[in-house]
Amino acid sequence: GRVAVLAGGKSAERPVSLKSGAAVHQALRNLGVIAELVDPSETSVDSLKGFDAAFIALHGRGGEDGVIQGVLEHLGIPFTGSAVMASAIGMDKVRTKQLWKGAGLPTPAFYVAGRNDTDLGFPLMIKPAHEGSSIGMAKADNAEQLALALQEAGKFDSDVLVEAWVNGPEYTVAVLGDEALPAIRLKTPNAFYDFEAKYQSNSTEYLCPAGLNDEDEAAIRQLALTAFRVAGCRGWGRVDVMRDEQGNWQLLEINTVPGMTDHSLVPMAAKATGRDFDALVGEILLMALE
Ligand code: DAL
Ligand code: MG
Repeated sequence: GRVAVLAGGKSAERPVSLKSGAAVHQALRNLGVIAELVDPSETSVDSLKGFDAAFIALHGRGGEDGVIQGVLEHLGIPFTGSAVMASAIGMDKVRTKQLWKGAGLPTPAFYVAGRNDTDLGFPLMIKPAHEGSSIGMAKADNAEQLALALQEAGKFDSDVLVEAWVNGPEYTVAVLGDEALPAIRLKTPNAFYDFEAKYQSNSTEYLCPAGLNDEDEAAIRQLALTAFRVAGCRGWGRVDVMRDEQGNWQLLEINTVPGMTDHSLVPMAAKATGRDFDALVGEILLMALE
């Protein structure tokens, strides 16, 4: 069968997606799969007809948020990763946090700017509710910085999430089917793991193994799996977690189409389990066909 690798799209993460898509496309070809790179910013629904499966390498709105998943459901084309509902939830940091809170899972205190503002003190983390790759995000140490950060985030989204700052190391856990892969610890000299640290910097450090003792490693993996399931996700994804100064885990967000660039984290965690990039891509695709 023919596999469409969906990449690009119209979101602010388009450049990242083009890199993910190119890498996935190459991997599928290495595996002997007949694959075609399809850029959904130029694609009509009709051009998806005739494919036997789709590997979704789209990040951000329109691609990671359930929209393209709905189109593929409608066309009867199996696709990688989460279905409509979990994709929509995963693209919405506020709803994700509300779900986790409701399930008793730990996530930093928050409010939605202009809706239910509460005093969370400073510093604060300001995030557009529906972006990825840290686009539009900023830290605020005082009211003046908060006002600026809200204005900036507001350029990307009508919903802006304001979160209590977590002063701790950041980790991420990839989920592949029923398995949580080894945690990765992210170390950046920047104030947080921002776009520059994610894709451009050479001074970002990635530790895998993450340096956790066995008990903590097991706990963070179990938490990520639970968080993934509570959001209704399937196939694959990545859960971002911090550890606060009290030593508690704090769930940040879920990525239902994590980056697959050469700087990306899921491939790094997969490598630690003996899966090279091609094997990882093949496994994700096979889960879609089950
Ligand atoms: N949103 C980016 C692509 C990630 O989570 O890896
Ligand atoms: Mg994200």
